[in-house]
Amino acid sequence: MAEMSNSTVTAASAGKRLEGKVAIITGGASGIGACTAKLFIIHGAKVIIADVQDDLDLSLCKDIVSENISYVHCDFVKESDVKNLVDTAISKYGRLDIMYSNAGIAGQFHISTILEAESEDFKRVLDVNLYGGFLCAKHAARVMIPKRKGVILFTSSDMSVIVGLGPHAYVTSKVALVGLAKNLSVDLGKCWKSLP
Ligand SMILES: NC(=O)c1ccc[n+]([C@@H]2O[C@H](COP(=O)([O-])OP(=O)(O)OC[C@H]3O[C@@H](n4cnc5c(N)ncnc54)[C@H](O)[C@@H]3O)[C@@H](O)[C@H]2O)c1
Repeated sequence: MAEMSNSTVTAASAGKRLEGKVAIITGGASGIGACTAKLFIIHGAKVIIADVQDDLDLSLCKDIVSENISYVHCDFVKESDVKNLVDTAISKYGRLDIMYSNAGIAGQFHISTILEAESEDFKRVLDVNLYGGFLCAKHAARVMIPKRKGVILFTSSDMSVIVGLGPHAYVTSKVALVGLAKNLSVDLGKCWKSLP
């Protein structure tokens, strides 16, 4: 894990809606995850970025002026990595308020029919986009349930509601993520209620 510094992003003038919160963002090396990390820092959160692109992550985020951002190498589909990620948040900050499960891959995106779809690609996309999300939720819940609070977020896609625009693997993974989120809501709601 490496600390990030030398930033140009300052939190000075922002309304800090996440002051004191600790957040994990997976897939933070680029795109939506990197933008979210910057926004969370501006709003006062302590952010741990998790990704597999170590060099890219550190260089992309080097402009963030904050001691509140750090990086953990985490392959989303390895349970030991995800467990270590959550344990790092607890050992470093003593809490985890937000798990943003955002990492995802597109897979074979420009194929037009199932006949062109490779089975290994289907499995890989489901592994990263869905199983990775499940692992994040499972390990976040492990530390959030005893505290009776926490937020678990996923990045799904408009393709979870508009069918026919993407390949089967990607669409299936994003629809399933919505199902996972709905089922988790009921599960965690029951856990919250059953605690003394
Ligand atoms: N960009 C879009 O238009 C769009 C639209 C809808 C949904 N999404 C979803 O948003 C999320 C982020 O997409 P993005 O556009 O920022 O893409 P991106 O490729 O810029 O970012 C995805 C990140 O996930 C990381 N990643 C991939 N596999 C990983 C693994 N096994 N372990 C850890 N990290 C891994 C990548 O290294 C990358 O940094 C994805 O889930 C994507 O499906 C994107």
